Amino acid sequence: MPVNNRVFSGIQPSGDLHLGNYLGAIRRFVPLQQTHECIYCVVDMHAITVWQDPDELRRATREVAAAFIAAGIDPKAHIVFNQSQVMQHAELAWVFNCVARIGWMNRMTQFKDKAGKNSENVSLGLLAYPSLMAADILLYKAGSVPVGDDQKQHLELTRDIAQKFNNDYAASIAANGLDPEYFPITEPLIAGPATRIMSLRDGTKKMSKSDPSDASRISLLDTADAIAKKIRRATTDPEPLPDNEADLKGRPEADNLVGIYAALSDRSKAEVLTEYAGAGWGTFKPALADLAVAVLEPISTRMRDLLDEPDTIDAHLRDGAERARTIAEKTMFEVRDIVGFIR
Ligand code: TYM
Repeated sequence: MPVNNRVFSGIQPSGDLHLGNYLGAIRRFVPLQQTHECIYCVVDMHAITVWQDPDELRRATREVAAAFIAAGIDPKAHIVFNQSQVMQHAELAWVFNCVARIGWMNRMTQFKDKAGKNSENVSLGLLAYPSLMAADILLYKAGSVPVGDDQKQHLELTRDIAQKFNNDYAASIAANGLDPEYFPITEPLIAGPATRIMSLRDGTKKMSKSDPSDASRISLLDTADAIAKKIRRATTDPEPLPDNEADLKGRPEADNLVGIYAALSDRSKAEVLTEYAGAGWGTFKPALADLAVAVLEPISTRMRDLLDEPDTIDAHLRDGAERARTIAEKTMFEVRDIVGFIR
């Protein structure tokens, strides 16, 4: 059971948003608005852990904000903002840098993947990345965090940091009259058929912004033609679709395309297979392309309209940041007292 009704999630403004970001995260953010208090953040401070051109960073920040709004997130009823406007994220991240252990950071698979053989020569920020992510979530004491499967380890670390902070400072937390579980043990929300969308070129690799091949991913701003072409050319095996999910095992490309179809149509993979059992790719790929265009085109049209008015997007971000800051500052007041900082 989540500890409270608040949801937090973040997306990096680094490169173009793709179908994995949409199905694994943004699409799932939308219905949570009915039942939760939602805070959705464009994590620009995370993005600069690897080099970002400043103009491109501004463009990409607005693109993520536009995607949130175009997908159906209401920036007035909930909070949409960019991380760097609320300086408490950096402040709490520093405290967490002093709570978390270097060994914990070194074990992060995403750090190992990004650093590769070059781990001495990447930014210090890249190593400390998960500590800032824990700060994002815990500043707002969010009970649930909807993310794709690749963020699971980071969320486990967030729980470890919360636990260690609560233990290390238990006496001070009590002396300040605060709840002993000061930082909540956050629940990851990783569910549905699209928690890990794979590359269209290679079913064993995650769809990602950093893949050099543009054909490996569908970008949210792709035209209808580009979407259809990429799906038509997606790598597949020669077999027809099976009638049950178990038979997708060992067929990563088929599994991926069925998962995408399921997520785009809000169905399970089993339901999709019931409809398409025995169908060949000549039938399934055009159906998937039509569905993807039908779902994505209205979103990309709305995104383009929003991006034509960058001032309006910036105003939404500023307004969201102001409301986020009110919550974040309340937490930091308490944290400063807990840690022993004079204010
Ligand atoms: P980022 O920007 O890499 O990705 C944003 C969201 O998209 C999901 N995602 C995918 N889901 C399914 N299939 C894929 N191929 C795929 N690729 C990406 C990610 O899981 C994520 O949910 N560290 C985070 C950003 C972050 C954050 C946070 C998230 C910073 N602070 C606090 C939650 C809470 C990241 O790099 O996401």
